Order: sequence, then C-alpha cells, then structure tokens
Amino acid sequence: MTFPATVLTRARAAARPQVTGSVTGAMGLTLSVDGIRAAVGDLVEVNPGERPLLAEVVAVGRDRLTCMPLGTLSGVHAGAPVRATGMPLQVPVGEALLGRVLDGLGRPVDGGPPLGSRVSFVDLSSETPHALTRTRVEEPLTFGVRALDTLVPCGKGQRLGIFAGSGVGKSSLLAQITRGTDADVRVIGLIGERGREVREFLEENLGAEGMARTVVVVATSDEPPLVRLKAAFVATRIAEAFRDEGRDVLLLMDSITRTAMAQREVGLSAGEPPATRGYPPSVFAMMPQLLEKAGTGVTGSITGLYTVLVEGDDHNEPIADTARSILDGHIVLTRKLATVGHFPAIDVLESISRVATAVVPPAQMADAREVRRLMGALRDVRELIEIGAYQAGSDPLVDRARALAPTIEAFLQQPMGESTPAEEAWGWLQRIVRSA
Ligand SMILES: Nc1ncnc2c1ncn2[C@@H]1O[C@H](COP(=O)(O)OP(=O)(O)O)[C@@H](O)[C@H]1O
Ligand SMILES: [Mg+2]
Repeated sequence: MTFPATVLTRARAAARPQVTGSVTGAMGLTLSVDGIRAAVGDLVEVNPGERPLLAEVVAVGRDRLTCMPLGTLSGVHAGAPVRATGMPLQVPVGEALLGRVLDGLGRPVDGGPPLGSRVSFVDLSSETPHALTRTRVEEPLTFGVRALDTLVPCGKGQRLGIFAGSGVGKSSLLAQITRGTDADVRVIGLIGERGREVREFLEENLGAEGMARTVVVVATSDEPPLVRLKAAFVATRIAEAFRDEGRDVLLLMDSITRTAMAQREVGLSAGEPPATRGYPPSVFAMMPQLLEKAGTGVTGSITGLYTVLVEGDDHNEPIADTARSILDGHIVLTRKLATVGHFPAIDVLESISRVATAVVPPAQMADAREVRRLMGALRDVRELIEIGAYQAGSDPLVDRARALAPTIEAFLQQPMGESTPAEEAWGWLQRIVRSA
C-alpha cells in the first residue's frame, strides 16, 4: 500500500520528538531561531499553543535558522519558544472550498463552517506541467462581456493581463467576468488591496451570485509581505487542484503588481540588492514561476487573468513589461474611456489576444476584424473631426465608421449587472457589420 506524500509528511511530523528552540533575535522582517532543525520552506511556530505565530524558514545555518513571519512580529521577545512543524505550509484544496473566502494562508475568514475533513491538504509546491505535455489552447472561454468575447477572445488555458491605472474599473470588470464566464470553477486572488476595497468587491461587485462556484483568497495591504506573496501562490495552487481533476478553471488575480511588490519587500529584507528600479532579482524570477502555473494541463485548464497596475500610464514600468512578455495577450483599460462613462473602459484597439484565430471560427473572425478596422479608421481621423477639418465623403471607410459609431458604442458599453452570452454577442456584431 502506498500513501500520498502529504500523509507521509504529516505522519513523520507527528512522530518527531518535540524539540523546542528559541528566538534569538528579530530584525526587520526576519527572526533568528536557535535550537531546532528544519529545512528551508518548513514552517515553525513561535510561542506554540493557542495562537502561535507561524514563520517560514528562509535560510539555515549550522545551528541557526532565519525565518520570516507569516503574521505580525510585535510582542515577540528574545527567548520566546519555537517549535518545528516539520513541514511546509499546507493548503486546502477541493470542492468544499467553493463559495468560501480564505485568507492568504488558506484559512477560512468568512465565518462559515470549518473546512474539516471535506478538503484535502497539499503543499504549495507543484509540478508545472511540461510544455510538451500541455494541450494547445484551442477552445474559447467566454466571459459574458461582449467587447472581450468578440474582439479580444480568450481561450481555455490562456493567460491574459488586464493593464490599467487605479480606479478605471479593474475590480468591476473582474466581478462582471466572474459572474458571466462559462468556466466550471472560478478562483480569485485579491492581493494587497485595502480592506475596504475587498469588502466592496465581495459584497457589492461579486454578490451571492458571483460567489457560487467561486473560491476567493484574500491578503489585504496590511498583511505581512510574505502572506501577500503566499496568497498568490495559494490561489494558484487551489486552481491547479481543480484543473488536475479535469476542470476548466478561471483564475483571476488582482493584482500581479502588488504580488511583485510583496516579493520586493521579502527580497530586500532578506538582503537582496535592488536591481531594476528598486526591484530585486527575485521579483523577476517569481513572476514567470507564478504565471507559468496557469495554462492547460494534460487534462483541464487554468485560464489566468492578471491585473497589472500602470500608474501614471507608464506602460513600460518593469513589472508591466515583464508581465507583458510572459502573458499571451493583454486587455488595456483606459482612464480616457472611464472618465466619459464608457464602461467597461476597454481600449479595444490596444488590446490583443494572441490565441484569437485559434479559438474563433473564420467567419466570426472576419466580422471582428471589420469592426476593428472601422474603429481604427475613426481613431485615425478623430482629431480632424474634432476640429472640423474632416470633409464627409473624402474617405468611404471613415464615413461608414462615423455612421456606425453609435451602434458600435452601444455594443461595447455594458452595464455591470449585464451578462451577454457569446452567441448573442456574435449575432449582434454580425448585424453591425452587415448594416449600412
Ligand atoms: N461597468 C461599469 N459601469 C459603471 N460604472 C463602473 C463600471 N465599472 C467601473 N465603474 C466605476 O468605476 C469606479 C472604479 O471601479 P473599480 O472597479 O473599483 O476600479 P479599480 O479596481 O480599477 O480601481 C467604480 O466605483 C464605478 O463607479
Ligand atoms: Mg480595484
């Protein structure tokens, strides 16, 4: 008889003699601990008992461990007892998580029943499916958002970035997608947002309808950086477990920028040098590690949507740049549209999906291309039109685009609470193209 690795890890941990070490110092984000042995990545408990402070071993010396806390260090004094747990962080996975809200370490925070035996626990580390065993992205995954499903179509297993400044509607769009998507399971990671924003997102944007078939993992901005960083991996690990059961999962991460900032804090406090614009090298190692976990597997898929903050509309900031190079497409939200009340504020012409032709039949692709061509023609002469320098009749394509502009606008704008099945959106798009 064979046992799963985690059962063995837990049994071994339980059978270990209980040795207690002690805290010898705490500085910045790190704790040094003497008197116990543990491996890098293992958890230790400071002040074991009722409410221990968990810390992760990040470096080991001959007889000293360097640990990083998964909680606040205040109140920890030199000499405080420390116990080795003998294993790394264990993450709950499984069907029973649907509808639940978890903290960055995978513990329920929604006041619901304990997870108990209805979930299984796994390590965070998982094998990223090898590129050659992954199936190709060739089936569409729909979001119920017209502008995206037709003009920036997404495939099962694709990873898309949502690039936007703050307050232009990222969270609202993620909620709209969560409610409208045809994915079997949705996993949302809310990383580094303020507590108030999280409440608003869960209660107003997502609502009960959005929570069904959804797991939410939250680490707000006031959590220690390591917890925020873990939360992104915990959400991803939960998605991986569903994928490995053959499910089509939609993983929504808000935001990858805040996750990178958490890694920066962790890296700098562990003594790494700042390299690119204040970000240490580990940030650029972490991003592909995290993002490559999404995608198709041997069975099932994780479609990843990652928001990227572009403050001051600096689209070349290093995190945005790195994200763009790893992802298979991007959705750009612009303040220009948001300020005139055009929601979702998607800049269609600046957004691309690299799998569009693989997931959309040629006839529909032709319609989409035509609408993009009309929008492009109009964009090119917008300034001329605004100053009254464009003469009707000088370009038939522009004239057609101007005539259709209100119809296209109506198609692209979609109220928060509205979801349009993809079939209907394609029919609508076809009518626009065939009219006039
Ligand atoms: N689809 C929409 N319809 C109407 N208003 C919207 C829509 N999406 C966003 N908004 C407006 O934009 C504001 C900011 O949206 P939010 O999703 O919180 O932005 P972000 O997450 O990018 O900071 C909302 O409070 C709302 O007023
Ligand atoms: Mg937001």
